[in-house]
Amino acid sequence: MSSIGDLSGRIALVTGASRGIGQSLATALADAGATVLAGVRGEPGREAQAREAGPAAIHPIAFDVRDVDATRRAVDAAVAEHGRIDILVNNAGLGREHDPLEVTEADWDELHDVNLKGAFFVTQAVGRHMVAARYGRIVMISSQASLVGLPRSAVYCATKAGLNGLARTLALEWAPFGVTVNCVAPTWIYTPGTAGRLDLPDFRQSVLDRIPVGRIGQPADVAAAVTFLASEASGLITGAVLPVDGGWTVQ
Ligand SMILES: NC(=O)c1ccc[n+]([C@@H]2O[C@H](COP(=O)([O-])OP(=O)(O)OC[C@H]3O[C@@H](n4cnc5c(N)ncnc54)[C@H](O)[C@@H]3O)[C@@H](O)[C@H]2O)c1
Repeated sequence: MSSIGDLSGRIALVTGASRGIGQSLATALADAGATVLAGVRGEPGREAQAREAGPAAIHPIAFDVRDVDATRRAVDAAVAEHGRIDILVNNAGLGREHDPLEVTEADWDELHDVNLKGAFFVTQAVGRHMVAARYGRIVMISSQASLVGLPRSAVYCATKAGLNGLARTLALEWAPFGVTVNCVAPTWIYTPGTAGRLDLPDFRQSVLDRIPVGRIGQPADVAAAVTFLASEASGLITGAVLPVDGGWTVQ
């Protein structure tokens, strides 16, 4: 077995890798030795720069996770080019808040199409190859919102709780084939998607008041957990939901 966190020679796909947590995950997995396919929505050149560094590399791969056919084509083409995908991180996601009495069908579909349906069909497309290859590490970027209620977040919480359910079931289905499926459940992480809220002093303080370790998360906090779960060394861990939340959900 390779050492903890060593991803040398592995091929990894990270969705939503153009910015925020996903960008940090792509860098962390590449720094751990993997060749990383960095999922972006539009033109690769515009959203992510290819990086060649030592044995590791980051290559943009363009598909919208809401497009099931395009997802499958992109995954199959990546496997044809690189031989396999060993690691999948389902990170692409949207965060929106709503008054539950005002949620529309469009609001519901917007979040579910990316956060849950998108993640499932990326996982299906990659899972076919992993099951055939008898090896895989799949990590869902869930949220503390999958474990506790959050104000104005009924729809978001439902999508993330759905990811936990998917992971548990796929963990059972694919354990015999050497494929593990786990979730990481972060608290508030400072990214371009959350900066607008977290830069508001009152809001920031209200978040800090709920995090016993006393700081807002950084993408690197999530990357540390994902790198471990993406490695061969985590092979006996499957179907788990790992909070990266500074203690928010233990209260
Ligand atoms: N930032 C936080 O506080 C926090 C906390 C818990 C969980 N999360 C989860 O972590 C993930 C990343 O969050 P972030 O804050 O970095 O978000 P972000 O908004 O900064 O980045 C989201 C990424 O997803 C991509 N994306 C969105 N829709 C897509 C689509 N249809 N197809 C392909 N890619 C798409 C975007 O292009 C972007 O790269 C999300 O799943 C989010 O729910 C974030």
